[in-house]
Amino acid sequence: MNGAAPQRAETQMAPVPRHFLDLRDFDAATLRRMIDAAAGFKRAGNAAGRPLAGRALAMIFEKPSTRTRVSFERAMRRLGGDTLMLSSQEMQLGRGESVADTARVLSRYVDAIMLRTDRAAKLHELAAHASVPVINGLTEASHPCQILADILTFEAHRGPIAGQRIAWCGDGNNVACSWIEAAARFGFSLRMATPEALRPPRAVLDWARAEGADVALTSDAKAAVAGARCVVTDTWVSMADQPDDGRQHLLAPFRITPALLAQAAPDAIFMHCLPAHRGEEVSAEVIDGPQSVVFDEAENRLYAQQAVLAYVFDVDRSII
Ligand code: CP
Ligand code: NVA
Repeated sequence: MNGAAPQRAETQMAPVPRHFLDLRDFDAATLRRMIDAAAGFKRAGNAAGRPLAGRALAMIFEKPSTRTRVSFERAMRRLGGDTLMLSSQEMQLGRGESVADTARVLSRYVDAIMLRTDRAAKLHELAAHASVPVINGLTEASHPCQILADILTFEAHRGPIAGQRIAWCGDGNNVACSWIEAAARFGFSLRMATPEALRPPRAVLDWARAEGADVALTSDAKAAVAGARCVVTDTWVSMADQPDDGRQHLLAPFRITPALLAQAAPDAIFMHCLPAHRGEEVSAEVIDGPQSVVFDEAENRLYAQQAVLAYVFDVDRSII
């Protein structure tokens, strides 16, 4: 062996950070461990110990947030770590510093970075250049942290999600895309009703079907909801959307009303990642009614976030 080889080998062997970017990046067993860990954190409450003492998470928000921001902050602190709240408008990132340089610099200061952005490409660029784990806190294309909390919520109320029928009604948006990825990994049947113009991207559906997912699309809300154990919707205007592009008119037949929910299984639950718009995507009677579990769902973001942090920091699961 010549003298140069070991140095090159050492450079190449820099460990790949344990990013959390999309559900599709993980196998079913790893995602199941995250859900089990989240359930463990929920049971443990404040008794989960402080495995992240001395670690810091930087959170960059390019878009507003209530749940993601507060649940990550609480999750990190519950596990003994610190957080830094950053807005890209207050960073040099907001006036032209590159994503790559931002990733390299933050990696020298903190132990993980969470990003909320309306450009998924930015998240992937950050991950490509960071030497610490990067977490997807929502992009225009996906919201994987939310769906971990949603699976936890379904299973807490109705038992294992594998083999169950879940209905999505409304916009084929970022949250819908992560539900599609979850269908492939958790083995449930997903029935999606959307206007034709607002279907989820073909590439996501093709990926899921190639992975063996049972995902069906329709423009008929009643057909999607029929017999479902869980009915899910989300805002009609996402943060990355133009509010006045005519979508409200297209989406009106997909509103979750008491009459539509009555088509689902008698014990169906209603979920919504929030924030909600009563009278638009869901009637007040539904979201404030007995089948709604939306505030359990919001609470479960805290435990899901703890599980995501435990994954990216490779915390010994025996403490959970
Ligand atoms: N569901 C969710 O991500 O909410 P926030 O936008 O408040 O973070
Ligand atoms: N689809 C919504 C989710 C908000 C948590 C949005 O992107 O605005």
